[in-house]
Amino acid sequence: MRVLVIGSGAREHAIVHALAADPVVDAVLAAPGNPGIDLVAQCLPDCGPVTDPAAMSRLAEEVGADLVVVGPEAPLVAGVADAVRARGIACFGPSAAAAALEGSKAFAKEVMAAANVPTALAHVCATEDEVIDALRATGAPYVVKDDGLAAGKGVVVTEDHDEALAHGLACLAREGARVVIEEYLDGPEISLFCLSDGTEVRALTPAQDFKRIGDGDTGPNTGGMGAYSPLPWAPDDLTEQVLDRIARPTIAEMHRRGTPFAGVLYVGLALTSRGLRVVEFNARFGDPETQVVLARLRTPLGQLLDAAARGRLAELPELSWHDSAAVAVVMACEGYPQSPVTGAPIAGLEECGALADVQVLHAGTAATPEGVVASGGRVLSIVGTGPDLATARDRAYAGVAAIDLAGCQHRSDIADRAIAGTVLR
Ligand code: AMP
Ligand code: GLY
Repeated sequence: MRVLVIGSGAREHAIVHALAADPVVDAVLAAPGNPGIDLVAQCLPDCGPVTDPAAMSRLAEEVGADLVVVGPEAPLVAGVADAVRARGIACFGPSAAAAALEGSKAFAKEVMAAANVPTALAHVCATEDEVIDALRATGAPYVVKDDGLAAGKGVVVTEDHDEALAHGLACLAREGARVVIEEYLDGPEISLFCLSDGTEVRALTPAQDFKRIGDGDTGPNTGGMGAYSPLPWAPDDLTEQVLDRIARPTIAEMHRRGTPFAGVLYVGLALTSRGLRVVEFNARFGDPETQVVLARLRTPLGQLLDAAARGRLAELPELSWHDSAAVAVVMACEGYPQSPVTGAPIAGLEECGALADVQVLHAGTAATPEGVVASGGRVLSIVGTGPDLATARDRAYAGVAAIDLAGCQHRSDIADRAIAGTVLR
């Protein structure tokens, strides 16, 4: 099987790595890929914009792909999966209509209501007066979300009424824009990836992400600064609850609407004092959670994604997992997330990669004649694995220490509270 992976982040590097290890996969190609992916797959840096459905589907045909795996949300929302399927090529990733579960928070809320999925009460606002009324109705802490895609930066959670109002009005500034204002959900967050072929659903293993830039969950939201799996503090029946109350009803509702969802439904949850609530849906794998989830997956990834893409998930045996833990630490460049500074040289990549049970996954990196440099906000994901979370964390941080990147920012507390047993306190 020849697999084309679309994307260029550490998530795609992890996916490429897992695909390359699957015995039925003969070749992995990446569009555009990155310098780390280039070591395990054939990168196609001149592929054109990944959000161009015609260009991506033509490329899939040209390279003779049997399966296309779409990593990021923007190509999905733009209709890349539809265009690939229209050429008769199997694609792992939802249609544009189904990717609206991520592309529009208002649409996601509508589907959740129809499917009776537990989530925060929400107000969809289109005018300043509606924003003011909604802020009054929910009260502090305020949760104000841009309706459309915003790369993890469209959400403001604040005690400050003026800041909440300002963000709400900023979101409305675009023509036809809407803003979602919702009830605050307390409690730890969980990410659970649920694979679907449109009818059948299989859950991967839960992970926790760290969204804020600073230790102790301080500072602005980012795309994600670290992750770990498993979650020793989560309820034993977490996955069953999510499948029964959230994932299967949502997949059934999308099917009923004539827009079946085939791909990965990323269920972002809060474990609140009143039970599980959906914080968000995404239509793709999460980054950096994928880095830890795939590090623990024993089932060959190519066969799994191919089955989901071809409506054959029900034919697969139960998924199988390594009895191990994984921790990912994201190394971001100076100034991320507000004003990333690119161009700094990265040293120590080989030393880091040579450490036992440490994986160096590239995201914002570029190869230059002088060596690899930082080229984007999140630069690397360093993944440590081991028999328990403490060992995996220590290995990940030993990897971080081996890298030299001027101005680098990383959190130093990834998985600490899970290891100390204080997540639920
Ligand atoms: P979203 O883009 O919807 O995932 O939101 C980004 C982040 O904002 C989430 O991961 C949460 O940390 C936070 N957040 C979103 N919605 C809520 C909510 N209703 N209550 C508390 N925090 C939230
Ligand atoms: N880690 C959060 C996301 O991928 O959206």
